[in-house]
Amino acid sequence: MMNLRGLAADTGREGLSQDRSALRIAGVRKVFDKLEAIRNITVDIAQGEFVSLLGPSGCGKSTLLMMIAGLTQPTSGEIVLAGKPVVAPRRDVGVVFQSPVLLPWRNIIDNVLFPIELLRLPLAQYRPRALELLKMTKLDEFAQALPRQLSGGMRQRAAICRALVHDPGTLLMDEPFSALDAITRDDMAVELQRIWQANRKTVVFVTHSIREAAFLSDRVLVMGRRPATIIDEVEIDLPRPRNVAMTEEEGFNRYTRRLRKSIEASHEQ
Ligand SMILES: Nc1ncnc2c1ncn2[C@@H]1O[C@H](COP(=O)(O)OP(=O)(O)OP(=O)(O)O)[C@@H](O)[C@H]1O
Ligand SMILES: [Mg+2]
Repeated sequence: MMNLRGLAADTGREGLSQDRSALRIAGVRKVFDKLEAIRNITVDIAQGEFVSLLGPSGCGKSTLLMMIAGLTQPTSGEIVLAGKPVVAPRRDVGVVFQSPVLLPWRNIIDNVLFPIELLRLPLAQYRPRALELLKMTKLDEFAQALPRQLSGGMRQRAAICRALVHDPGTLLMDEPFSALDAITRDDMAVELQRIWQANRKTVVFVTHSIREAAFLSDRVLVMGRRPATIIDEVEIDLPRPRNVAMTEEEGFNRYTRRLRKSIEASHEQ
């Protein structure tokens, strides 16, 4: 079992070698009946990299994420994760959906441990890890509480713990903060950055929010309108850990302006 805090000091991009592609999306196309959702997407994501998919509603972000998760298959092209083609959901992947789908009759710790049960892994062995994750997301006092006793942000943090509990190398997140208010949302972004720095997962993060993408990512992939392709790619070369105050600074705003321009250009297509 990995040490959650052991890598916390590794805050930079060093050690992130570009040729060590953890995730390869090669010529992926997706057609639903007659609707072409994704035309042709090719992208390589490095081990431990934080990448956001940014694009307008309906452009195909969730479709791409669900293909990476193995929950739906590309019409053509290939997705390779950790050297193996993705053909079905895999245990080396954790997924956080847009709304935190917790089982209402199970307490928080049992919700977090649910993937362990599904994967038929030894529960007793994973319990300490689940508790450690709850502590890390400041939910340890609520381990025995039911989901309805938690706020939306707390439930979302529990869903993130659940996605991490089996220690997957890759974390896929589909607009995980979209239902939250702006202040909670900022807190969650800081929190997620902290979790990512401590764990160094490869993260693919879907969002509508330019600011959120710029704040969290090593790299932002901008998707154009349907049928989607990647129309721009922006490396966010800002120091970490990033804090909310930085989002007021010119260095940060240069990135958000650049991303906004890309998205506007896609509207004019
Ligand atoms: N199962 C499906 N069957 C048919 N069409 C689908 C299916 N899933 C998605 N689509 C279509 O594919 C396109 C892309 O949808 P997708 O959900 O990936 O967009 P999105 O970028 O995630 O949007 P949003 O930001 O609103 O969540 C849409 O036109 C949608 O109607
Ligand atoms: Mg979506």
